[in-house]
Amino acid sequence: MTLETSLHVRHGSSIGQPITRRDGFLKVTGKADFAADNRPPGLLYAVLAVSSIARGRVTSLNVQAARSHKGVVEVMTAANRPALAQDPDEKSNPFMFRLDLLQNDRVRYANQPIAVVIAESLESATEGATLLQPQYEAEPARVGLDGDEGFVPPGVGIGTPAEIHKGDVEAGLEIAATLIDETYETPAQYHNAMEPHAIVASWDGDALSIDMPCQALELARGRIAGLFGLSPEKIHIRSPFLGGGFGSKVISSPQILGFLAARLVGRPVKLVLRRDQMYGAIGHRAPTRQRVRLGVANDGTLSALDHRAKTTSSLYDDFFEPAANISHTLYASPAIATSHEAVRIDIATPTFMRAPGEATGSIALESAIDEAAAACSMDPLDFRLKNYAEVEPISGKPFSSKALRECYAQGAERFGWARRPRAPRQMRDEAGFLVGWGVGTATFPALMFQAKARAVIRRDGTGLVESGAHDMGQGAWTALAQIAADGLALELDQIEFSAGTSDLPDAGIAGGSAHTATAGMAIHGAGADAIAKLAELATADRRSPLYGAGNAGVIARNGRLLRRDDESRSESYGDILARAGLAEIEGAGASTADPATQSVYAMHAHGAVFAEVKVDPDLGQIRTTRLVGAFAAGRVINPRLVRSQYYGGMIWGISFALNEQAMVDRRTGRVMNADLAEYHVPVNADVVSLEALLVHEDDPHVNALGIKGVGEIGVTGTAGAIANAVWHATGVRVRRFPIKLEDLVMPI
Ligand code: MOS
Repeated sequence: MTLETSLHVRHGSSIGQPITRRDGFLKVTGKADFAADNRPPGLLYAVLAVSSIARGRVTSLNVQAARSHKGVVEVMTAANRPALAQDPDEKSNPFMFRLDLLQNDRVRYANQPIAVVIAESLESATEGATLLQPQYEAEPARVGLDGDEGFVPPGVGIGTPAEIHKGDVEAGLEIAATLIDETYETPAQYHNAMEPHAIVASWDGDALSIDMPCQALELARGRIAGLFGLSPEKIHIRSPFLGGGFGSKVISSPQILGFLAARLVGRPVKLVLRRDQMYGAIGHRAPTRQRVRLGVANDGTLSALDHRAKTTSSLYDDFFEPAANISHTLYASPAIATSHEAVRIDIATPTFMRAPGEATGSIALESAIDEAAAACSMDPLDFRLKNYAEVEPISGKPFSSKALRECYAQGAERFGWARRPRAPRQMRDEAGFLVGWGVGTATFPALMFQAKARAVIRRDGTGLVESGAHDMGQGAWTALAQIAADGLALELDQIEFSAGTSDLPDAGIAGGSAHTATAGMAIHGAGADAIAKLAELATADRRSPLYGAGNAGVIARNGRLLRRDDESRSESYGDILARAGLAEIEGAGASTADPATQSVYAMHAHGAVFAEVKVDPDLGQIRTTRLVGAFAAGRVINPRLVRSQYYGGMIWGISFALNEQAMVDRRTGRVMNADLAEYHVPVNADVVSLEALLVHEDDPHVNALGIKGVGEIGVTGTAGAIANAVWHATGVRVRRFPIKLEDLVMPI
């Protein structure tokens, strides 16, 4: 998939320019084809039938009734599902999750796929699925954090230890002048991407052609190849646009069932999840219960920090929300301990969801810090300024760069924090609503994965840059093209940027807020390689004005190579290629995190979020009336897109604090509010005023371009700031999220 460049013409660096999304025009005019918009000839429609119980067996399905329904072509069940080369329950590596591909009659969670009905129309398939009338042998579902005996998981998140400590926490609590010991709860959340998971799949012999939204093309392709026993080259995935992913769009059971359905019927098949089916097989953020104990010495510094998280996972696979890990990186204390415990329940395996661990952990830690400040009669910002870590507390490593103090300062100034009364319930607006102000610290690791890229300089002076990068809506098409243009020292409108398909160089994962750094550094490297090859041609050629300058003696600018010692001697890319008789010259780039630098420095982005809420004193209704976030996350590739990422994160913070919650029926193990009417997320009216300040930060160590991630940090800090503002407005400390109006109905 290739996008034409926008008409934005300027000179100099593309990096740093606030250009609009290059795919924006396609999107607002409906010309961007999302996966489900594809209709290859002969297309059939597949609809999933899913279990209504959370635990037990399917004892019967009326396949006959469904199959004989008008328009139904086939019904796929465990009995006739095509064979796979790999057991879906085989665990090939920790990040390949076990799948539900009709391998047997077991039901291990509600909304698990139990059959697929394939028909000539969506209506026929939908009706056919209702005729299956599944019968079950149901067993009582195990639900919630209190179900079974807890256990210490083998590792949490991306394989970090479940328990970490330094110093003696009990001794630190012993000597503390002030103690906080509170428990916070966060609910299960589901990935409610605007675009549900979808596939359109066609088989041609053993070649599989797929349209599907995917935030990790190479991982998905590898998983599909393993399951079907194909070489990855036989699989072609197109994923030009995603309507959000949030961690859930690598590859999921329902999507693979679509490939199986297409194989079964020998025709192309489209399968799109219904909104309620999003609350099942595709993963979710598990609930947490977190106990935070803080000891504060007489001078207002922490003497101990103990953060213990409990979470849930499935009975058949491992993913553990690493909620307590945030306490490794933010506040200094001579003694810090973090630990995780889990229970297994009858639910699908949880997975990564925006700021997995950091979001849930931040809400507890930022609330507890606020409680400590209040208990010490200190301003909560002063308390943070006194306690934020100068070096990473657990590892002892210095931060590669850190502008947190500046974030606190700029955010506080913009918000007007200095006017905040210390005690709660001191402010009212003209309508009599209680007004409260709160602050939260934001942090997110600066990660990098591995990626490759290819760059070509053509004789006409234009460039082509290829990377299998993913645009989930965050603007990767645009930010990466800006890096590509600078990498080739061309204007943005002189390059063609291709991304979004699996035949392009592996761009790694659009996750962990690492995509711009990871794919961007590979792209940057590919451009530099192409230019180096061009310079070799020129400097070795007696006819070139650059002859003898050597690679290091040449610089690239505006489509020309110039002698560093005499810029009047230069030559255009096109002239160099023409004289060499070449149509083009190609460079390759690869990126990976540098373990040597990582062993020396801790790498994180930082920020501070300030919130204003208004609470109706009679009805308890809460409105977030103002949010100001100040973030420092290295080099800003595109300020418009970066700001938009912060906004998205902060809005998720509102959601976390006040809206989102999957309600599970304890009798059945089913999510009861599996739709966007009852699973609340903020709408425009809930976001009254939102500001994100981009705090300047040069990080010379994180990577050569100084890029950190901006996707997830906004989710951290914000929810805590809102909860703290609710306390400041009302004097009521709510520790179970989301905060509801019944928590705040005031005693008269
Ligand atoms: Mo994300 S949870 O890194 O897609």
